[in-house]
Amino acid sequence: MAKAIQFFELNTGAKIPSVGLGTWGAAPGAVADAVTTAIRAGYRHIDCARLYCNEKEVGCALKKLFDNGVVKRGELWITAKLWCNDHAPEDVPKSLETTLQDLQLDYVDLYLIHWPVSMKKGSEGFKPENLTETHIPATWRAMEALYDSGKARAIGVSNFSSKKLGDLLAVARVPPAVNQVECHPVWQQPKLHEFCKSKGVHLSGYSPLGSPGKGMIKTQVLKNSILNTIAEKLGKSPAQVALRWGLQMGHSVLPKSTSESRIKENFDIFYWSIPEDLFAKLSEIEQAREDGERYCVCAPDLRFIQDSRRAMGW
Ligand code: A2P
Repeated sequence: MAKAIQFFELNTGAKIPSVGLGTWGAAPGAVADAVTTAIRAGYRHIDCARLYCNEKEVGCALKKLFDNGVVKRGELWITAKLWCNDHAPEDVPKSLETTLQDLQLDYVDLYLIHWPVSMKKGSEGFKPENLTETHIPATWRAMEALYDSGKARAIGVSNFSSKKLGDLLAVARVPPAVNQVECHPVWQQPKLHEFCKSKGVHLSGYSPLGSPGKGMIKTQVLKNSILNTIAEKLGKSPAQVALRWGLQMGHSVLPKSTSESRIKENFDIFYWSIPEDLFAKLSEIEQAREDGERYCVCAPDLRFIQDSRRAMGW
């Protein structure tokens, strides 16, 4: 019988639901319905961020669900993220406060530093002129204070390489519980996976389907021939196999969808598994080239982050 893999235990002892609804790119107007559909379908994890500009709408949907008795706050896992222009230690608690107000919550289950790149206070957009000196240890101390206060029940990072994560672990009083990064069968991140595992940091995968609608990841993950052959053999969709691969790797996965049928499809991955021989085949998938095929380098407005990344020896 397949192991369901519904949760992963973090280094805080908390259990993070293994499938979360991604809300990046879910337009205001669509995101509330997506959250409602997902929670009614059984999702207990919603992945949010200030950057996505839809936290208010997510908050309204959550409030309705609580008021209607569909779910209780304590049954949900809400992740939120600190944006790059709020890295100054005094801005960190203010930023979480805004997020909590927008989400209409008293606490988040997980608060992440969204990128290891700081931007000037009040600046908007990914523009080189907005970059400022990054001092992650100071930002992290402010994150630790939020953890101590209970407003963030776990803290972590996003888009951190092994090097950046190692540097942070060397100075952290509260070690990061999670590193949320791009991860899917065409960008498996084996070295980062091993490093996180060795340090007890849970890896959470965003763009687990390769973000097909955004045209950002040039390698079309869901069209990959190995993935499709395995999906056919198992009688599952390529998306389901990509997501189940993540769970069997030990990653939580954050598929975004605003379509009811796909939200349900993406959650139907617990009561079957990819057998060992086919799972091994997935590790043979040719990986995206670092330059030009991953979404960070493909998206013009994110290109500068990639450049900063190189400049900082990321
Ligand atoms: P939609 O919102 O119309 O369902 P990722 O999570 O990797 O960023 O991918 C999100 C994109 O994948 C969205 O464009 C979403 O479109 C699409 N998507 C979500 N679930 C599926 C699925 N099961 N099959 C195909 N495409 C999907």
